Amino acid sequence: MDNFRFYVPTDIRFGKDRLATELTDVLDVYGKKVLIVYGGGSIKKNGLYDQVIDLLEKNQNKVVELSGVEPNPRIETVRRGVSLCRENDIDVILAVGGGSTIDCAKVVAAGFYSEEDPWDIIVARKGYQGEALPIVTILTLAATGSEMNAGAVISNLESNQKLGVGGPSMIPKVSFLDPTNTFTVPAYQTAAGSADILSHLFESYFNITEGTDVQDFVSEGLMRAVIKNCPIALETPEDYDARANLMWSSSLALNGLTRNGKHGVWSCHAMEHELSAFYDITHGIGLAILTPRWMDYVLNEKTVTKFAQFAHNVWGINEKDPMHAAKKGIQATYDFFKSCGIPMTLPEVGIEKDKFAEMAKQAVAHSTIKIDAFVPLAESDVEAIYHACL
Ligand code: NZQ
Ligand code: ZN
Repeated sequence: MDNFRFYVPTDIRFGKDRLATELTDVLDVYGKKVLIVYGGGSIKKNGLYDQVIDLLEKNQNKVVELSGVEPNPRIETVRRGVSLCRENDIDVILAVGGGSTIDCAKVVAAGFYSEEDPWDIIVARKGYQGEALPIVTILTLAATGSEMNAGAVISNLESNQKLGVGGPSMIPKVSFLDPTNTFTVPAYQTAAGSADILSHLFESYFNITEGTDVQDFVSEGLMRAVIKNCPIALETPEDYDARANLMWSSSLALNGLTRNGKHGVWSCHAMEHELSAFYDITHGIGLAILTPRWMDYVLNEKTVTKFAQFAHNVWGINEKDPMHAAKKGIQATYDFFKSCGIPMTLPEVGIEKDKFAEMAKQAVAHSTIKIDAFVPLAESDVEAIYHACL
């Protein structure tokens, strides 16, 4: 296991009925002028917007709104947010939504203090070490873990780039995790979010660092929690415990708990970000399509032990021969995504092979998968994996 620092100071307020008594106290620590950031309107339909605005009005907050944050949030929206913060001398940002809304809020928070254009902060690929406005989140979709980590992913559709950035000041100060706020998440997004959580776990689990039993056994438990609870949430969207387990897995899958102490980069996220950058598809769906094909592609004599462990501990496969076990585990992963209603080929989400070569080139250029992925992937490998998804 490698050396690591685990410092995740987000104050998690988990559970129902907390906003009425806690939200304004939390915000008042930072000031009265609040930028509320949200997406395309789901919070207006389910009543969360009215509830938040009512609380802020009663507390005499000055409220400014950045609305319409896109899934795969755009740099233009970030720029709009930075201008609103400067014009209104904002004290604190309240992000109400899924990962896209929270990610947008994070880069707005950093952009407020930066003299550079926000896209320059991202494209520099160095991380962000400067100050940021304080961020409070109300999570409405279990998926990215953005509610409890330092990362953000922003798209620039003009240049077909979708890139990540992160820094200590971008970690949310407080996150409200109320599972009832995810009752209205549609089946497609519930499945996509669950696939994203699983992918965050897979990406760190399939890793070359030795001696990481804690991270791996915690991961296996979280994977099992998602595999058990996603179908329940799909069948019964208002099942509180199913939604609660998905929500808490989302945060724990990407707050460093299962990733720290390991080195090397992720593979499927690098390949998926290009699909989203070129075709603007739903992140978790792209991951679900790619993951079993990537697993198949990287299964070999060196990796088989880990895949057999995965098959045994996560899917309960009792097969003595490691290669047979590994293959059954990969098939179980595919079957699970399919059973959740995820379209499992790229053409089903509107992606044909004409841009595979270009996307493969970008996937390798935007990451270090060629050098330090679980199994290093050159452009030709990425292209072959895209082809396997046809
Ligand atoms: O925009 P609204 O109207 O709110 O609707 C959203 C959106 O259409 C809807 N939704 C969210 N909560 C809802 C709801 N609909 C009904 N009821 C609710 N309670 O769901 C749709 C998707 O929302 P989005 O925020 O885009 O989804 P998600 O949380 O999956 O975020 C995806 C983005 O996060 C990035 C992805 O690349 C993608 O851009 N990621 C961020 C990471 C991070 N910050 O650490 C890591 C991830 O790997 C990922 O890359
Ligand atoms: Zn992800």
